[in-house]
Amino acid sequence: MTKRPIIIDTDPGIDDAVAIAIALFSEDLDIKCISTVSGNVGLDKTTFNALRLLKFFGKENIPVAAGASQPLLRPIVDASEIHGKTGMEGFDFEDPDMSLLRKESSIELMKQILLDSNEPVTLMPIGPLTNIALLLLTYPEVKPKIKEIVMMGGSTGRGNCGVMSEFNFHADPEAARIVFKSGLKLTMAPLDVGVRALISKEVSEEIRMMNKTGNMFYELFSRYRGSSFETGLRMYDSYAIAYILEPSIFETVNAFVDIETKGEYTSGCSVIDLKGYLKQESNATVLLDADPEKFEQWFLKSVKKCC
Ligand code: RIB
Ligand code: CA
Repeated sequence: MTKRPIIIDTDPGIDDAVAIAIALFSEDLDIKCISTVSGNVGLDKTTFNALRLLKFFGKENIPVAAGASQPLLRPIVDASEIHGKTGMEGFDFEDPDMSLLRKESSIELMKQILLDSNEPVTLMPIGPLTNIALLLLTYPEVKPKIKEIVMMGGSTGRGNCGVMSEFNFHADPEAARIVFKSGLKLTMAPLDVGVRALISKEVSEEIRMMNKTGNMFYELFSRYRGSSFETGLRMYDSYAIAYILEPSIFETVNAFVDIETKGEYTSGCSVIDLKGYLKQESNATVLLDADPEKFEQWFLKSVKKCC
C-alpha cells in the first residue's frame, strides 16, 4: 500500500511531541516535512524542539523549516506555563545539528512540496494556523494539491486559554478564520475529545517501561501542566494523528464552523453550528466524541512502534 503523504505544522510542545513521534513511526505515512510555528513557546524554541525530536528518533532525514514567528495581527501569546519555558520540559534531549534546519521558510518549503507532489498531501497543523493561512494566501495555487487539513484546535464549548477560545485558535484567530473560509476539506479535533480520550495513569506507567520513547514521554508528562497523571492526560495533538490513522475511534459530525475575530471577550472562539441555526453549508468535520478503550489500545500500539 502506498504511504499517505503528510506535512506536520507544529509548535512542540509536549503533546506535539507525542503526535510527531506517532506519525514518524507509522508505516502508513510519508512525512514530507515538519513546519514549525510560534505557539506553545517562541519559534526559535519550537524549531529547536522539532530538531531535537528528530535527532532523538534518528529521523534527521525529515526536512524541518521554520515558519511564522508571530501571529498575523495579534501580539504573541505562549503556553510556557503548560509546557515549561523550553516547551519540552522534563527530558534532557541531546542538542540537534542546527545546520539541518532548511534555509527557506516553511511556507516556501510546503509550497514546493505540494507543487512537486504527484498526489494531494494531507496537512496536519497542531499549533496556531498562522503558517497554513500564509501558505494559502501567498500560494493559492497549492490548494488543489492539498488532500485535506486535519487539525487540533477549537472547542464546542469553553476554552482552555480564553473564556471561549482554545489556545491554537486564540493565538491567531485571523489565521484560523482564513483556513475555515478556504473551501478545503477540513477536520478539527477540538478540546472536547480530550475529556474522553484520556491517557490514564496506568497507561503512562506502561509506556514508561515500554521503550525509550515511552520513557521520554513519561518524563515530559511529569512536567506537563495541561492535566496530570492522576486526572488522566489530555494529549490534544495526538487526537489529530489518531483520526488520520484510526478514524473509527471517533464520532464525528459535519457542521458550519467560523472563528470569532471581533469579540471583545470571545476572539478565537470556534463557532460550531451543531444545530444549523446559521443556515450555512457545513465546512468542517468535527470530532465530537471518542471511544476511550479504542483510543487507549491505539495509543499503546502506536507508542510500541516508536523505537
Ligand atoms: O489547546 C491545545 C493546543 O494548544 C495543543 O496543540 C497544544 O500543543 C497547544 O498548541
Ligand atoms: Ca500544539
